[in-house]
Amino acid sequence: MAVLQEVGQDIMQWSERLAQHSEPGWVEKGQLTVTYLTPAHLAVAAELKALMQEAGFDEVSVDAVGNVVGVYHGDTTDAASLLTGSHYDTVRNGGKYDGRLGILIPIAVVKSLSSQKRRLPYGIEVVGFSEEEGQRFRATFLAAGALTGSFDPEWLSQRDVDGISMAEAMKTAGLPGTLAAIQTIKRDPQKYLGFVEVHIEQGPVLCGKELPLGVVTSINAGVRATCKTIGLAGHAGTTPMSMRQDAMLAAAEISLMAEQRARLDEGSVATVGQIQVPGGSINVIPGECVFTLDMRAPTDPQRDALVSNIVKEAHAIANRRQVQFEYTEVMRASAAPSDPGWQLRWERAVAKIGQPVFKLNSGAGHDAMKMHTIMPQAMLFVRGGNRGISHNPLEIITAQDATLATQAFEALLDEIN
Ligand code: GLV
Ligand code: MN
Ligand code: MN
Repeated sequence: MAVLQEVGQDIMQWSERLAQHSEPGWVEKGQLTVTYLTPAHLAVAAELKALMQEAGFDEVSVDAVGNVVGVYHGDTTDAASLLTGSHYDTVRNGGKYDGRLGILIPIAVVKSLSSQKRRLPYGIEVVGFSEEEGQRFRATFLAAGALTGSFDPEWLSQRDVDGISMAEAMKTAGLPGTLAAIQTIKRDPQKYLGFVEVHIEQGPVLCGKELPLGVVTSINAGVRATCKTIGLAGHAGTTPMSMRQDAMLAAAEISLMAEQRARLDEGSVATVGQIQVPGGSINVIPGECVFTLDMRAPTDPQRDALVSNIVKEAHAIANRRQVQFEYTEVMRASAAPSDPGWQLRWERAVAKIGQPVFKLNSGAGHDAMKMHTIMPQAMLFVRGGNRGISHNPLEIITAQDATLATQAFEALLDEIN
């Protein structure tokens, strides 16, 4: 199937079109922040809907959690479908391609099929997942969670920093905001051939090897937690250093310990991405510190050992410093090895378009690791420029690589029989 070379340019333009929408406080600085169900998020959903309609999908809709779903029918109505897509929310001050590329490439593929009036023996369902990053609410993968039947009912009453509950945010966005409605969008795996996801690599490997594409072998396991240390606030001038119960210093020591522990393993990582002294003052010893922990490893047992060592040592640090340590796990995702059959299809597809077949694992989390719980999945990575930097506005791809990824996706379709 021939893809016009301009397809990569289209994908770059569509990415810019989506990136016009960002949240107040960020948009003024030219920064991209799109978190769950904010006006910018709803604007991106509307753009995706329009892009799918323009591309010639047979059905385009927005579901109960804000996923934008496009269906391109197969040549028979009862044919099973290939499920694909990625997320359209972003981290704060993120890049333009993380997630979105995996929605835009299959849109380009369907556009090409539709323009040729070509029907395949199976349908294609493209999902723009509304939430993957866990930013506004501590409900990471809530969109894929709804599709896989693992949407946590307690999420609906969770509140954002402005005190708005998720159910309220949904209703304001015109969604039902009820568990009953969310439960109806759970997918029946029998109706699908499998799930494939295209994603920017978000790491330095493909860029370093000068390879445009990589076939993913497995996605690393992860755990996220919110943590709190509670000490005793006191006068910064009068309290001797030996008498302090400084909550922030305990958190700082825990952060450094987590770094050291992760460095002991091949492939483990631990990050404190947020740390605050709520209501702190320049002349007050911190009485409380809140921070996050994100811990990942290539396998579940390695991740579990990492997490249990870090939590045990955090308690020991807190005890020594006479502060309390509270730990609340907010996300746990298992490692997701690619389905061998789907991985092989990606490998053949990459080879068919004349590119070297290179395999790598994913340090980042993806919607695919959630879809993995109900159906076979495999991912294709696209090279990021700037040494693969991501979760950063420096994230970049080339139009040429977007074209190659689209061609690989089309070649994948030919591998399905
Ligand atoms: C998603 O971007 C992640 O945190 O891996
Ligand atoms: Mn991301
Ligand atoms: Mn992503």
